[in-house]
Amino acid sequence: MSKYVLGIESSCDDTGVAIIRDDGTIMANLISSQFEEHLEFGGVVPEIAARAHLDHVDRLIKAAMQQTGLTFSNLSAIAATCGPGLIGGVMVGMMAGKAIAAAHDLPFIAVNHLEAHLLTARLTNEVALPYLCLLVSGGHSQLLIAEDISSYKRIGTTLDDALGEAFDKTAKMMGLPYPGGPYMQKLAEDYISRCAANNIDPQDIVKKYNLPHPLTRHDNMDFSFSGLKTAMRTHIDKIKTDEISIAQAEELAYAFHQAIIGVLNNKLSRAMTYFKAEYATQLETQAPPPAIVLAGGVAANRFIREAMQELAASHNMALIAPPVKLCSDNGAMIAWAGIERLRRGMVDSLDFAARPRWPLDPNAEKRIGAGVKA
Ligand code: KG4
Ligand code: ZN
Repeated sequence: MSKYVLGIESSCDDTGVAIIRDDGTIMANLISSQFEEHLEFGGVVPEIAARAHLDHVDRLIKAAMQQTGLTFSNLSAIAATCGPGLIGGVMVGMMAGKAIAAAHDLPFIAVNHLEAHLLTARLTNEVALPYLCLLVSGGHSQLLIAEDISSYKRIGTTLDDALGEAFDKTAKMMGLPYPGGPYMQKLAEDYISRCAANNIDPQDIVKKYNLPHPLTRHDNMDFSFSGLKTAMRTHIDKIKTDEISIAQAEELAYAFHQAIIGVLNNKLSRAMTYFKAEYATQLETQAPPPAIVLAGGVAANRFIREAMQELAASHNMALIAPPVKLCSDNGAMIAWAGIERLRRGMVDSLDFAARPRWPLDPNAEKRIGAGVKA
Protein backbone atom coordinates (compact mmCIF):
# COMPACT_ATOMS: atom_id res chain seq x y z
CA MET A 1 0.00 0.00 0.00
CA SER A 2 1.26 3.49 -0.84
CA LYS A 3 2.48 5.73 1.92
CA TYR A 4 1.87 9.47 2.04
CA VAL A 5 3.85 12.02 4.04
CA LEU A 6 2.80 15.60 4.76
CA GLY A 7 5.74 18.05 4.92
CA ILE A 8 5.77 21.54 6.44
CA GLU A 9 8.44 24.19 5.81
CA SER A 10 8.61 27.48 7.76
CA SER A 11 12.28 28.20 8.48
CA CYS A 12 12.61 31.49 6.60
CA ASP A 13 10.11 33.58 4.64
CA ASP A 14 8.21 30.89 2.72
CA THR A 15 5.45 28.78 4.24
CA GLY A 16 5.42 25.51 2.31
CA VAL A 17 3.11 22.51 2.68
CA ALA A 18 3.29 19.40 0.51
CA ILE A 19 2.07 15.83 0.38
CA ILE A 20 4.25 13.23 -1.34
CA ARG A 21 3.62 9.58 -2.09
CA ASP A 22 6.46 7.19 -1.28
CA ASP A 23 7.15 6.59 -5.02
CA GLY A 24 8.07 10.29 -5.28
CA THR A 25 4.79 11.55 -6.74
CA ILE A 26 4.11 15.11 -5.58
CA MET A 27 0.39 15.06 -4.74
CA ALA A 28 0.28 18.69 -3.57
CA ASN A 29 2.94 21.36 -3.12
CA LEU A 30 1.67 24.73 -1.93
CA ILE A 31 3.67 27.76 -1.02
CA SER A 32 2.88 31.13 0.43
CA SER A 33 5.73 33.56 0.20
CA GLN A 34 6.01 36.67 2.35
CA PHE A 35 7.57 38.83 -0.31
CA GLU A 36 5.23 41.80 0.33
CA GLU A 37 5.54 41.68 4.13
CA HIS A 38 9.35 42.12 4.09
CA LEU A 39 9.69 44.34 1.04
CA GLU A 40 9.94 47.68 2.83
CA PHE A 41 12.65 46.32 5.18
CA GLY A 42 14.93 44.99 2.41
CA GLY A 43 15.35 41.65 4.22
CA VAL A 44 13.50 39.08 6.31
CA VAL A 45 12.27 40.38 9.69
CA PRO A 46 12.09 37.30 11.99
CA GLU A 47 9.09 38.48 14.03
CA ILE A 48 7.06 39.36 10.94
CA ALA A 49 8.02 36.03 9.36
CA ALA A 50 6.82 34.03 12.37
CA ARG A 51 3.47 35.83 12.43
CA ALA A 52 3.00 35.34 8.69
CA HIS A 53 3.68 31.59 9.00
CA LEU A 54 1.02 31.50 11.70
CA ASP A 55 -1.44 33.22 9.35
CA HIS A 56 -0.81 30.82 6.46
CA VAL A 57 0.09 27.38 7.74
CA ASP A 58 -3.41 26.09 8.66
CA ARG A 59 -4.91 27.30 5.39
CA LEU A 60 -2.16 25.63 3.35
CA ILE A 61 -2.45 22.33 5.21
CA LYS A 62 -6.21 22.31 4.64
CA ALA A 63 -5.81 23.19 0.94
CA ALA A 64 -3.13 20.51 0.39
CA MET A 65 -5.34 17.86 2.03
CA GLN A 66 -8.31 18.93 -0.10
CA GLN A 67 -6.24 18.88 -3.28
CA THR A 68 -5.20 15.26 -2.71
CA GLY A 69 -8.57 14.06 -1.42
CA LEU A 70 -6.77 12.33 1.47
CA THR A 71 -7.75 12.44 5.12
CA PHE A 72 -5.21 12.69 7.94
CA SER A 73 -5.75 9.00 8.71
CA ASN A 74 -4.52 8.15 5.18
CA LEU A 75 -1.12 9.69 5.99
CA SER A 76 1.83 7.62 7.18
CA ALA A 77 3.75 10.42 8.90
CA ILE A 78 4.05 14.18 9.40
CA ALA A 79 7.41 15.79 8.63
CA ALA A 80 8.28 19.35 9.61
CA THR A 81 11.39 21.51 9.44
CA CYS A 82 12.78 21.66 12.99
CA GLY A 83 15.86 23.74 12.12
CA PRO A 84 18.16 25.37 11.27
CA GLY A 85 16.50 28.72 10.62
CA LEU A 86 14.65 31.63 12.20
CA ILE A 87 13.42 29.99 15.35
CA GLY A 88 10.02 31.73 15.62
CA GLY A 89 9.03 30.50 12.18
CA VAL A 90 10.48 27.03 12.72
CA MET A 91 8.36 26.69 15.89
CA VAL A 92 5.16 27.57 14.02
CA GLY A 93 5.57 24.84 11.38
CA MET A 94 6.95 22.32 13.84
CA MET A 95 4.08 22.81 16.30
CA ALA A 96 1.48 22.54 13.54
CA GLY A 97 3.11 19.25 12.48
CA LYS A 98 3.29 17.91 16.02
CA ALA A 99 -0.35 18.82 16.68
CA ILE A 100 -1.55 16.82 13.65
CA ALA A 101 0.72 13.91 14.55
CA ALA A 102 -0.59 13.89 18.14
CA ALA A 103 -4.26 14.25 17.21
CA HIS A 104 -4.14 11.48 14.57
CA ASP A 105 -1.61 9.25 16.26
CA LEU A 106 0.89 9.52 13.40
CA PRO A 107 4.69 9.35 13.56
CA PHE A 108 6.42 12.76 13.64
CA ILE A 109 9.63 13.31 11.66
CA ALA A 110 11.92 16.22 12.58
CA VAL A 111 13.56 17.38 9.36
CA ASN A 112 16.84 19.26 9.04
CA HIS A 113 16.11 21.95 6.42
CA LEU A 114 19.61 21.61 4.91
CA GLU A 115 19.33 17.84 4.60
CA ALA A 116 16.01 18.36 2.81
CA HIS A 117 17.71 20.67 0.25
CA LEU A 118 20.36 18.00 -0.36
CA LEU A 119 17.90 15.12 -0.72
CA THR A 120 15.66 16.94 -3.23
CA ALA A 121 17.86 15.54 -6.01
CA ARG A 122 16.73 12.03 -5.03
CA LEU A 123 13.11 13.11 -5.39
CA THR A 124 13.62 14.36 -8.94
CA ASN A 125 16.36 11.99 -10.18
CA GLU A 126 17.76 8.58 -9.41
CA VAL A 127 20.87 9.52 -7.49
CA ALA A 128 22.78 6.91 -5.52
CA LEU A 129 24.68 7.65 -2.32
CA PRO A 130 27.39 8.83 -1.89
CA TYR A 131 27.26 12.04 -3.94
CA LEU A 132 28.92 15.43 -3.88
CA CYS A 133 26.74 18.49 -3.13
CA LEU A 134 27.07 22.22 -3.52
CA LEU A 135 24.57 23.79 -1.13
CA VAL A 136 24.16 27.49 -1.84
CA SER A 137 21.33 29.46 -0.26
CA GLY A 138 20.68 32.71 1.58
CA GLY A 139 22.21 31.33 4.76
CA HIS A 140 24.68 28.68 3.59
CA SER A 141 27.48 27.97 1.14
CA GLN A 142 28.87 24.53 1.71
CA LEU A 143 30.47 21.67 -0.14
CA LEU A 144 29.32 18.38 1.33
CA ILE A 145 29.44 14.70 0.63
CA ALA A 146 26.13 12.95 1.23
CA GLU A 147 27.36 9.58 2.48
CA ASP A 148 24.00 8.34 3.69
CA ILE A 149 20.72 9.72 5.02
CA SER A 150 21.68 11.62 8.17
CA SER A 151 25.41 11.25 7.43
CA TYR A 152 27.20 14.15 5.76
CA LYS A 153 30.83 15.21 5.51
CA ARG A 154 31.46 18.91 5.08
CA ILE A 155 34.55 19.49 2.94
CA GLY A 156 34.20 23.25 2.41
CA THR A 157 32.25 26.23 3.71
CA THR A 158 32.17 30.01 3.54
CA LEU A 159 34.36 31.99 5.90
CA ASP A 160 32.03 35.00 5.76
CA ASP A 161 28.96 35.67 3.60
CA ALA A 162 26.82 32.93 2.12
CA LEU A 163 26.55 33.09 -1.67
CA GLY A 164 22.85 34.03 -1.61
CA GLU A 165 23.66 36.73 0.93
CA ALA A 166 26.37 38.11 -1.40
CA PHE A 167 23.80 38.21 -4.21
CA ASP A 168 21.18 39.87 -1.98
CA LYS A 169 23.52 42.45 -0.42
CA THR A 170 25.07 43.42 -3.77
CA ALA A 171 21.62 43.70 -5.32
CA LYS A 172 20.56 45.97 -2.46
CA MET A 173 23.57 48.25 -3.12
CA MET A 174 22.40 48.46 -6.72
CA GLY A 175 18.91 49.50 -5.58
CA LEU A 176 17.23 46.18 -6.40
CA PRO A 177 14.49 44.60 -4.23
CA TYR A 178 15.00 41.64 -1.84
CA PRO A 179 15.78 38.82 -2.56
CA GLY A 180 18.15 40.17 -5.18
CA GLY A 181 19.50 36.94 -6.73
CA PRO A 182 16.85 36.59 -9.46
CA TYR A 183 17.11 40.35 -10.32
CA MET A 184 20.89 40.06 -10.69
CA GLN A 185 20.41 37.10 -13.01
CA LYS A 186 17.91 39.05 -15.12
CA LEU A 187 20.32 42.00 -15.47
CA ALA A 188 23.15 39.70 -16.54
CA GLU A 189 20.86 38.01 -19.09
CA ASP A 190 19.89 41.41 -20.49
CA TYR A 191 23.56 42.28 -20.78
CA ILE A 192 24.24 39.17 -22.85
CA SER A 193 21.30 39.98 -25.16
CA ARG A 194 22.61 43.53 -25.58
CA CYS A 195 26.10 42.22 -26.40
CA ALA A 196 24.69 39.81 -28.97
CA ALA A 197 22.63 42.56 -30.61
CA ASN A 198 25.59 44.93 -30.79
CA ASN A 199 28.36 42.47 -31.54
CA ILE A 200 30.17 43.13 -28.24
CA ASP A 201 32.30 40.51 -26.48
CA PRO A 202 30.76 40.15 -22.97
CA GLN A 203 34.22 39.31 -21.61
CA ASP A 204 35.37 42.91 -22.23
CA ILE A 205 33.42 44.04 -19.19
CA VAL A 206 34.87 41.25 -17.04
CA LYS A 207 38.35 42.57 -17.86
CA LYS A 208 37.28 46.17 -17.20
CA TYR A 209 35.93 45.52 -13.69
CA ASN A 210 38.59 42.92 -12.83
CA LEU A 211 36.69 41.63 -9.77
CA PRO A 212 38.54 39.43 -7.26
CA HIS A 213 38.17 35.63 -7.09
CA PRO A 214 38.63 35.27 -3.32
CA LEU A 215 40.52 32.28 -1.86
CA THR A 216 41.11 30.62 -5.22
CA ARG A 217 44.87 30.53 -4.62
CA HIS A 218 44.32 28.68 -1.32
CA ASP A 219 44.54 24.93 -1.64
CA ASN A 220 41.25 24.20 0.13
CA MET A 221 37.54 24.00 -0.64
CA ASP A 222 36.42 27.00 1.43
CA PHE A 223 34.73 30.11 0.08
CA SER A 224 34.82 33.81 0.90
CA PHE A 225 32.45 36.28 -0.73
CA SER A 226 32.76 39.44 1.36
CA GLY A 227 35.78 40.75 -0.63
CA LEU A 228 33.82 40.39 -3.84
CA LYS A 229 30.92 42.28 -2.29
CA THR A 230 33.29 45.08 -1.21
CA ALA A 231 34.81 45.28 -4.70
CA MET A 232 31.29 45.63 -6.10
CA ARG A 233 30.59 48.39 -3.58
CA THR A 234 33.68 50.29 -4.74
CA HIS A 235 32.51 50.17 -8.36
CA ILE A 236 28.94 51.10 -7.45
CA ASP A 237 30.09 54.02 -5.28
CA LYS A 238 32.22 55.36 -8.14
CA ILE A 239 29.22 55.29 -10.45
CA LYS A 240 26.84 56.72 -7.86
CA THR A 241 28.37 60.17 -8.15
CA ASP A 242 25.73 60.37 -10.89
CA GLU A 243 23.03 57.72 -10.98
CA ILE A 244 23.61 54.07 -11.85
CA SER A 245 22.21 53.48 -15.34
CA ILE A 246 20.51 50.29 -16.44
CA ALA A 247 23.40 49.60 -18.80
CA GLN A 248 25.92 49.90 -15.93
CA ALA A 249 23.80 47.71 -13.66
CA GLU A 250 23.68 45.04 -16.38
CA GLU A 251 27.45 45.16 -16.84
CA LEU A 252 28.10 44.94 -13.11
CA ALA A 253 25.66 42.06 -12.69
CA TYR A 254 27.34 40.15 -15.51
CA ALA A 255 30.85 40.75 -14.12
CA PHE A 256 29.63 39.68 -10.66
CA HIS A 257 28.30 36.39 -12.05
CA GLN A 258 31.57 35.74 -13.87
CA ALA A 259 33.61 36.28 -10.69
CA ILE A 260 31.36 33.86 -8.79
CA ILE A 261 31.66 31.29 -11.54
CA GLY A 262 35.44 31.68 -11.43
CA VAL A 263 35.39 30.88 -7.71
CA LEU A 264 32.95 27.98 -8.08
CA ASN A 265 34.93 26.43 -10.94
CA ASN A 266 38.10 26.56 -8.88
CA LYS A 267 36.62 25.15 -5.65
CA LEU A 268 34.39 22.57 -7.28
CA SER A 269 37.23 21.27 -9.41
CA ARG A 270 39.13 20.52 -6.23
CA ALA A 271 36.02 19.01 -4.62
CA MET A 272 35.31 16.73 -7.59
CA THR A 273 38.88 15.44 -7.64
CA TYR A 274 38.79 14.87 -3.88
CA PHE A 275 35.40 13.12 -3.97
CA LYS A 276 36.33 10.71 -6.75
CA ALA A 277 39.59 9.76 -5.04
CA GLU A 278 38.32 9.46 -1.44
CA TYR A 279 35.14 7.56 -2.30
CA ALA A 280 36.54 5.46 -5.17
CA THR A 281 35.58 2.15 -3.56
CA GLN A 282 31.94 3.11 -2.91
CA LEU A 283 31.64 4.73 -6.36
CA GLU A 284 32.76 1.50 -8.03
CA THR A 285 29.55 -0.16 -6.87
CA GLN A 286 27.40 2.59 -8.47
CA ALA A 287 26.36 2.89 -12.07
CA PRO A 288 28.66 5.57 -13.51
CA PRO A 289 29.10 8.51 -13.59
CA PRO A 290 29.46 9.92 -10.03
CA ALA A 291 27.02 12.74 -9.27
CA ILE A 292 27.32 16.33 -8.18
CA VAL A 293 24.09 17.80 -6.84
CA LEU A 294 23.17 21.49 -6.76
CA ALA A 295 20.96 22.50 -3.85
CA GLY A 296 19.55 25.65 -2.22
CA GLY A 297 17.96 28.79 -3.62
CA VAL A 298 21.04 30.01 -5.52
CA ALA A 299 21.06 26.71 -7.44
CA ALA A 300 18.19 28.26 -9.40
CA ASN A 301 20.70 30.60 -11.07
CA ARG A 302 20.93 29.91 -14.79
CA PHE A 303 24.58 30.95 -15.19
CA ILE A 304 25.69 28.84 -12.24
CA ARG A 305 23.77 25.82 -13.55
CA GLU A 306 25.31 26.16 -17.01
CA ALA A 307 28.85 26.58 -15.67
CA MET A 308 28.50 23.64 -13.30
CA GLN A 309 27.12 21.48 -16.10
CA GLU A 310 30.23 22.16 -18.16
CA LEU A 311 32.57 21.62 -15.22
CA ALA A 312 30.90 18.32 -14.24
CA ALA A 313 31.20 17.04 -17.81
CA SER A 314 34.91 17.88 -17.89
CA HIS A 315 35.36 15.78 -14.72
CA ASN A 316 33.21 12.91 -16.06
CA MET A 317 30.55 13.60 -13.48
CA ALA A 318 26.79 14.02 -13.84
CA LEU A 319 25.28 17.31 -12.70
CA ILE A 320 21.94 16.91 -10.96
CA ALA A 321 20.15 20.24 -10.57
CA PRO A 322 16.53 19.95 -9.42
CA PRO A 323 13.91 22.13 -11.18
CA VAL A 324 14.12 25.78 -10.08
CA LYS A 325 10.84 25.55 -8.13
CA LEU A 326 12.26 22.78 -5.93
CA CYS A 327 15.62 24.54 -5.34
CA SER A 328 14.25 27.38 -3.21
CA ASP A 329 12.45 26.64 0.05
CA ASN A 330 9.33 24.48 -0.38
CA GLY A 331 7.23 21.88 1.39
CA ALA A 332 7.96 19.06 -1.08
CA MET A 333 11.60 18.83 -0.03
CA ILE A 334 10.51 18.43 3.60
CA ALA A 335 7.91 15.77 2.79
CA TRP A 336 10.50 13.91 0.68
CA ALA A 337 13.12 14.04 3.46
CA GLY A 338 10.32 12.63 5.63
CA ILE A 339 9.84 9.72 3.22
CA GLU A 340 13.58 8.99 3.09
CA ARG A 341 13.68 8.89 6.89
CA LEU A 342 10.44 6.95 7.29
CA ARG A 343 11.83 4.23 4.98
CA ARG A 344 14.69 3.80 7.43
CA GLY A 345 12.46 3.90 10.51
CA MET A 346 13.89 7.28 11.56
CA VAL A 347 11.01 8.88 13.45
CA ASP A 348 11.17 11.39 16.29
CA SER A 349 9.41 11.97 19.53
CA LEU A 350 6.93 14.81 20.02
CA ASP A 351 9.28 16.49 22.48
CA PHE A 352 11.91 17.09 19.78
CA ALA A 353 13.21 20.65 20.40
CA ALA A 354 13.53 23.12 17.52
CA ARG A 355 17.16 23.90 16.63
CA PRO A 356 18.18 27.37 15.41
CA ARG A 357 21.55 25.81 14.53
CA TRP A 358 21.76 22.27 13.26
CA PRO A 359 24.94 21.52 11.30
CA LEU A 360 24.81 18.62 8.85
CA ASP A 361 28.31 17.59 9.85
CA PRO A 362 28.64 18.12 13.61
CA ASN A 363 32.29 16.97 13.45
CA ALA A 364 33.38 19.58 10.91
CA GLU A 365 35.94 22.07 12.09
CA LYS A 366 34.46 25.41 13.22
CA ARG A 367 35.20 28.36 10.94
CA ILE A 368 35.73 31.74 12.55
CA GLY A 369 33.33 34.39 11.19
CA ALA A 370 31.12 31.93 9.36
CA GLY A 371 28.49 31.75 12.13
CA VAL A 372 25.47 29.67 11.15
CA LYS A 373 26.71 29.65 7.58
CA ALA A 374 29.31 27.02 8.44
O1 KG4 B 1 17.19 28.17 -0.16
P1 KG4 B 1 16.52 29.50 -0.16
O2 KG4 B 1 15.18 29.62 -0.82
O3 KG4 B 1 16.36 30.04 1.30
C1 KG4 B 1 17.34 29.84 2.27
O4 KG4 B 1 18.23 30.72 2.33
O5 KG4 B 1 17.27 28.79 2.96
O6 KG4 B 1 17.55 30.54 -0.83
C2 KG4 B 1 17.26 31.91 -0.96
C3 KG4 B 1 18.43 32.58 -1.66
C4 KG4 B 1 18.33 34.11 -1.70
O7 KG4 B 1 19.56 34.64 -1.28
C5 KG4 B 1 18.06 34.41 -3.17
O8 KG4 B 1 18.55 35.67 -3.61
C6 KG4 B 1 18.80 33.28 -3.84
O9 KG4 B 1 18.52 32.15 -3.03
N1 KG4 B 1 18.32 33.04 -5.22
C7 KG4 B 1 19.10 33.26 -6.30
C8 KG4 B 1 18.29 32.98 -7.43
N2 KG4 B 1 17.06 32.58 -6.98
C9 KG4 B 1 17.11 32.63 -5.61
N3 KG4 B 1 20.37 33.69 -6.40
C10 KG4 B 1 20.87 33.83 -7.64
N4 KG4 B 1 20.16 33.59 -8.77
C11 KG4 B 1 18.88 33.17 -8.73
N5 KG4 B 1 18.20 32.93 -9.84
ZN1 ZN C 1 16.65 26.88 2.22
